[in-house]
Amino acid sequence: MKNRTAKDKPLFTPGPLTTSMTVKEAMLRDLGSRDSEFIGALREVREKLLEVGGVSQEAGYESILMQGSGTFSVESVICSAMPPEGKLLAIVNGAYGDRIVKIAQAHGIETLVQKVGENKLPSVAAVEEALTADGEIKMVVAVHCETTSGIINPIEEIGQVVARHGRRYFVDSMSAFGAVPLDLAGANIDFLVSSANKCIEGVPGFGFCICRRDALLETRGWSRTLSLDLLAQWEGLEQTGQFRFTPPTHAILAFRQALQELEDEGGVEGRRDRYRENYRTLVSGMRGLGFEEYVDPDLQGYIITSFHYPQDANFEFQRFYDLLNEAGFVIYPGKVSDADCFRIGNIGRVDRSDVEQLLEAIKASLASMGVAQTGTVGAGK
Ligand SMILES: Cc1ncc(COP(=O)(O)O)c(C=O)c1O
Repeated sequence: MKNRTAKDKPLFTPGPLTTSMTVKEAMLRDLGSRDSEFIGALREVREKLLEVGGVSQEAGYESILMQGSGTFSVESVICSAMPPEGKLLAIVNGAYGDRIVKIAQAHGIETLVQKVGENKLPSVAAVEEALTADGEIKMVVAVHCETTSGIINPIEEIGQVVARHGRRYFVDSMSAFGAVPLDLAGANIDFLVSSANKCIEGVPGFGFCICRRDALLETRGWSRTLSLDLLAQWEGLEQTGQFRFTPPTHAILAFRQALQELEDEGGVEGRRDRYRENYRTLVSGMRGLGFEEYVDPDLQGYIITSFHYPQDANFEFQRFYDLLNEAGFVIYPGKVSDADCFRIGNIGRVDRSDVEQLLEAIKASLASMGVAQTGTVGAGK
């Protein structure tokens, strides 16, 4: 894709991600936060986010933008939407689930944790059991694509159980929203969070929450912080059309353009198709080079893939990373705790030909490290 400046390497990471030239160009403006043009852009972005989520204000949903990286939006929901009394049930199979637990604990929220291995799916039956046994659980939280490994969690199935028990449901869909189709209403999601620089391909600077209005209105007086108060942020946006505090104006203009480009690509399904093609090209080529994935292909999403280090004494990750970097490609270290892995992301403004070039560079890097290869690029299963 001809979107990068001459200086930029394609980013095969979970973020920040490669963005299109037109998204970058959309930032070449200085708009005041009270400027009617900016307020209009903000309104448009909030409306389009609901469309991307397949919901609407008429159906009772709202979208709220929050300054900061994605974690700030996650924290905003936890610290605003958990009632003063009651427990949170956190479903964890990776570092981002662990982070949610840390956030809850930082706010003194009693948290029950259902933790399984990083390449295992959580048990929906265990969620059912916990909700049946403990009426004090007020909210269940799960991560959609656990970016630690790339596994996709059973968000809809968990949502059915949570709805049957009448509890609130919060989904961290940071790395999946916009490219992994999800029926928010069907999954009974009360709060969903993602950020600007993931699958929508904007630039970093803010996150957003799509939520049910009734679930949001219920939270009055609950927020444990001022700046991350989700209800106050929404009320500010509704009443004045503005952020309460300095907005990331440039990032929002970029995001408006990114949303247009998502629509032009065929929406969530169109983006899914490109990312899935990236993923298939990658995995096929990596298998051809002798690499193995950490997650079973049936559980693996097409967002990011964790690969085991090769069983070869000559392989050293930092050297591999540096060689790829010199060749003009950025990959990512592993994050799983029980295996030596590295990760390659398929998201952002990269396409199949970028992945093919990456595979050639991986092959050359292995050769220069003296790592034995068991196959050739493209010859995988
Ligand atoms: C699933 C998930 N949750 C939360 C985060 C945290 O987002 P940020 O690094 O933007 O704070 C990430 C980042 O990759 C993520 O993938």
